[in-house]
Amino acid sequence: MNDNVATGEKSTHKKGSLISPLQKQYYERDGFLVIKNFLPKEVCNLLIQRARQLIDAFDPGEVITTFSSVTHQHAQHLYFLESGDKIRFFFEEGAISEEGQLKADKSYCINKIGHALHDLDPTFYCASRLHKIAVLLKELGVDQPLLLQSMYICKQPHFGGEVTCHQDSTYLITEKEPVIGLWFALEDATLENGCLWAIPGGHQQPLKSRFIRGANNHIHTEVYDDKPWELSKMIPLEVPKGSVIVLNGLLPHMSKKNTSEKSRHAYTLHFMSSDNVFAKDNWLALAPDATFKGML
Ligand code: FE2
Repeated sequence: MNDNVATGEKSTHKKGSLISPLQKQYYERDGFLVIKNFLPKEVCNLLIQRARQLIDAFDPGEVITTFSSVTHQHAQHLYFLESGDKIRFFFEEGAISEEGQLKADKSYCINKIGHALHDLDPTFYCASRLHKIAVLLKELGVDQPLLLQSMYICKQPHFGGEVTCHQDSTYLITEKEPVIGLWFALEDATLENGCLWAIPGGHQQPLKSRFIRGANNHIHTEVYDDKPWELSKMIPLEVPKGSVIVLNGLLPHMSKKNTSEKSRHAYTLHFMSSDNVFAKDNWLALAPDATFKGML
């Protein structure tokens, strides 16, 4: 196993620090860092419980109707594009039948909830602004972090689909340093239930493509390098509940389908420093005059 993962938990570090100089070196070398026992189990359970409440209260009927209408593609497109400052629910691919019915209970059909849980839901608001998160980001060089987006990813047993290899900066480009992603394992993430995989050091390659919002909400992808990903270099990042995986925005990563009986719930946050600049043509956009909020 990569030494980043094997030694991450045991490295010695200064009292009061969350990561050692060695762990910071690992992060710079590999583009990711695994820290076990970061989130208390109680916080993980609280977030799982809150997500369940949000899903229970969500009426999929309206969304399914919208998606099944004549303007099907356009409506789906806007539902996603307008979700940057909302709490919206996204289904697994193929979860809706041709007759416009969910193929299973809605809790199994939801792929993720995004993208402003961190601002709009009190439970996620607090969990996203834990002092420990701010300290970790500071130690990684992100001063005065701004919260860009949040996602609750369900990855339900047998339903949770594959997320193909990508760099997060493809979707969230910034002018200076790449965004930093924090991926919290709210449950054990294993080979069987679809843990993350990453290419160690892959963040040292340039961005391969960009997902751009153009005029009239037209989305297109600019491709800078169409060579296939070197998937043979991927390593699995199996982590126990409560771990956080820090991801450089340029790191190629993916997750496979959940083929097991166990869910793999995760919560993700993306940050940039307040002195960085978020590209105006990113897909994620706030209302006019709104700005990304900080930790406090
Ligand atoms: Fe990602």
